[in-house]
Amino acid sequence: MSESFDVIVIGAGPGGYVCAIRAAQLGLKVACVEKRETLGGTCLNVGCIPSKALLQSSENFEETKHHFADHGILVDGVKLDLARMQARKGEVVGANVKGVEFLFKKNKVTWLKGAGKIVAPGKVEVAGQTYDTKNIVIATGSESMPLKGVEVDEKQIVTSTGALELEKVPGHIVVIGGGVIGLELGSVWRRLGAEVTVVEFLDRIVPTMDGEVSKQFERVLSKQGVKFKLKSKVTGAVKAADGVTLTVEPAAGGAAEEIKADVVLLAIGRRAYTESLGLEAAGVAVDERGRVKTDGHFATNVPGIYAIGDVIAGPMLAHKAEDEGVALAEMLVGQAGHVNYGVIPSVVYTWPEVASVGETEEELKARGQEYKSGKFPFTANGRARAMGSTDGFVKILADKKTDRVLGAHILGPDAGTLIAEIAVAMEFGASAEDVARTCHAHPSLNEAVKEAALAVDGRALHI
Ligand code: FAD
Ligand code: NAI
Repeated sequence: MSESFDVIVIGAGPGGYVCAIRAAQLGLKVACVEKRETLGGTCLNVGCIPSKALLQSSENFEETKHHFADHGILVDGVKLDLARMQARKGEVVGANVKGVEFLFKKNKVTWLKGAGKIVAPGKVEVAGQTYDTKNIVIATGSESMPLKGVEVDEKQIVTSTGALELEKVPGHIVVIGGGVIGLELGSVWRRLGAEVTVVEFLDRIVPTMDGEVSKQFERVLSKQGVKFKLKSKVTGAVKAADGVTLTVEPAAGGAAEEIKADVVLLAIGRRAYTESLGLEAAGVAVDERGRVKTDGHFATNVPGIYAIGDVIAGPMLAHKAEDEGVALAEMLVGQAGHVNYGVIPSVVYTWPEVASVGETEEELKARGQEYKSGKFPFTANGRARAMGSTDGFVKILADKKTDRVLGAHILGPDAGTLIAEIAVAMEFGASAEDVARTCHAHPSLNEAVKEAALAVDGRALHI
């Protein structure tokens, strides 16, 4: 007879593996099903971690080649060893996925290897065996969104997965989609020597970010050499031995043009992944975009079946998936698990980085919220000057009447680290005045956050 469990989690990405570990910590008997050879999901294998490894390596290359001389460091004959760079990325990924395997052993989570299928409520089939369980957690993640007329082969026309594996620097890479993946991986290959053109359907890049940030971000990336074709759509791609010819049209209609590329990166978003999971047979409802429908407690319409992470609604971010995993595990043992969706930071790991938390100016205006805005540029921050990284600014938005922080938007060095301060402030319901009156170390980039908080009240000191 097969083993039975309190919880079977399907999918070992950041949502699933964290949920499994937390549930085991809370005393439940847990299994996690994963069909990939290694644990960690999209994030550790083909997402967050390998992309950040290549971003770091390519940034080091660019710094050495173009910016060390500014510091009086002269390096001759800087060369790229792409094979070594890719191998290092593999080592970083390997250490991370092995780490999850270790954590499973430490917490006595059983890894059921293979594809999981829900055969009935309380029954999951893996590799021909059926396991009984009191609860099922769907954490099967997402996959790259396809585009009609642009057929992915992961060699000439790639998704992020292929773009992380290129063995040679393309002459010209055309990125379809000016979102997070396009700009991060576009930056990697530009720094390594490719010409990069980004084709974006809307009139601005990273369209969900604060408008002012997205405009200045585009300027900074353009200065670095990335070319943008906004308000444009790709309507066809023809492959030949020497490259791909794309047909690009204005989004609003009009004359088409042809663009030649050595590699095309398709990055127009991701969609929930539920293939062969048995949702229909189990009667689990999905929404119009194929995402598993859940209530405020991650419960689907079928008792005992829950879902978290990219496969449900909300931002497709690893930390959002993780926090949902923890909250659900706690709810399953009767605790009050909770995710505050108003305070989920979002970071684009280019250089400079872009980071935001809370509402944008556009969102505040749309809901008629009166607000004050405080801004401080990195050109006026001593540490940023010392680093030679003065592009960008910190913007803090606060309630006009109560001064409570409603959002923060940062374009600048280490913005992804700086934003954490505001996330904590928002969790504690802090006012801009609270942030402004907190002592910040000097000289630090964080002083730009303090100054932006002072600027909310019109009293920044260094500008
Ligand atoms: P996933 O990580 O997608 O994991 C789902 C797992 O389920 C997969 O391993 C899959 O094999 C498995 N699975 C699916 N179906 C079955 C089945 N039937 N049986 C068994 N196993 C199954 N987010 C960030 O927050 N920061 C970043 O810097 C970042 N960078 C990214 C870079 C790239 C290139 C990409 C593509 C994504 C990035 N993301 C980033 C997004 C992040 O990877 C996802 O939000 C996150 O992985 C979602 O976690 P998840 O657990 O919901 O799903
Ligand atoms: P995205 O949603 O960030 O960006 C897609 C972009 O493509 C948008 O700007 C959109 O307007 C544009 N677009 C859509 N259809 C188009 C078309 N036909 N032609 C031209 N442009 C079109 O999606 P992306 O970059 O694919 O990333 C997927 C998800 O992965 C994101 O939701 C993100 O949350 C996650 N991710 C997060 C990272 C991070 O946190 N640093 C890094 C990489 C991915």
